[in-house]
Amino acid sequence: MTATAAPTGLGSLDRNLALDAARVTEAAAIAAERLAGCGDEKAADQVAVDAMRTALNQLDISGVIVIGEGERDEAPMLYIGEKVGTGKGPAVDIALDPLEGTTLTAKAMANALAVVAFAPGGGMLHAPDTYMDKIAIGPGYPAGLVDLDATPAENVAALAKAKGVTPDKITACVLDRPRHKDIIASLRSVGARVHLISDGDVAGVMNTADPATGIDIYIGQGGAPEGVLACAALKCVGGQFQGRLVFRNEDEKARARRLGLKDADFDRKYALDELVRGDAVFSATGVTDGALLDGVKIRDGYIHTHTVVMTSATGTVSTIRTKHRL
Ligand code: FBP
Repeated sequence: MTATAAPTGLGSLDRNLALDAARVTEAAAIAAERLAGCGDEKAADQVAVDAMRTALNQLDISGVIVIGEGERDEAPMLYIGEKVGTGKGPAVDIALDPLEGTTLTAKAMANALAVVAFAPGGGMLHAPDTYMDKIAIGPGYPAGLVDLDATPAENVAALAKAKGVTPDKITACVLDRPRHKDIIASLRSVGARVHLISDGDVAGVMNTADPATGIDIYIGQGGAPEGVLACAALKCVGGQFQGRLVFRNEDEKARARRLGLKDADFDRKYALDELVRGDAVFSATGVTDGALLDGVKIRDGYIHTHTVVMTSATGTVSTIRTKHRL
């Protein structure tokens, strides 16, 4: 991100934008859930993309996608740089993942979400579609308590001390991937519980801010776009996050440069406020049942959705259960 001035807030538009954001994720979740268990990740993603795009284009905003389905040549819709909305309202940068958990949905597994974040222009890092090393904890801890450069064992020890518990009372959420072997070993070496997830690290990070989920810390490498989306959520509810981009080849670096990142940013450890600099509105609707949100259900002639929508400016968190007539 090259802009230096702090982006302006979304101000009094927050409330309307929050409802708009909820409608957008509800539409994508409803569409995706119809294909839950179909075994076809691409098809599930495509219907979510179509529904989210239709919903976005009905909003009175001058929206531009900054984190989307990919670059124009690889994503026919909701590509980075695509303009959405009627063009009549405020300028809004949009980060989205119409289906966070394509595999989860294709296999009808828990925790798939439809996700969107709105921010004023220049408010979010234009993260390339690379990996990101991430660490996150919920609100209420001293700043800088955990750090990407500390070992997972050290981070657990620091968190346990701040929480006033022994390390075996700390639960860490980690994506179940071979690349996380050393992280998992380090966590277990101090007795921490490791909660492995097969996919969906936006929810994994968000869970750290909700004591009911039992997750204290998220550690590991996942998608960079998902990292920025999770930060938009944490920005609204509080919590700490650090992320560092991980590049596997020169092509990924070239993508990052096209999005405005400088080579000096490639090794940078981004804090939450550097990934999402200004105000943000975040919405997630459950596609399949999860720890945070129920999935889409069809009952009594209605489609039932469960959404959490939050605004950072006011710290408002609304849980919305909506009945949509079939
Ligand atoms: P998709 O919904 O795009 O399949 O992403 C799911 C996800 O699990 C993300 O939550 C996570 O950040 C990323 O994939 C991890 O990538 P990988 O599966 O390559 O480890």
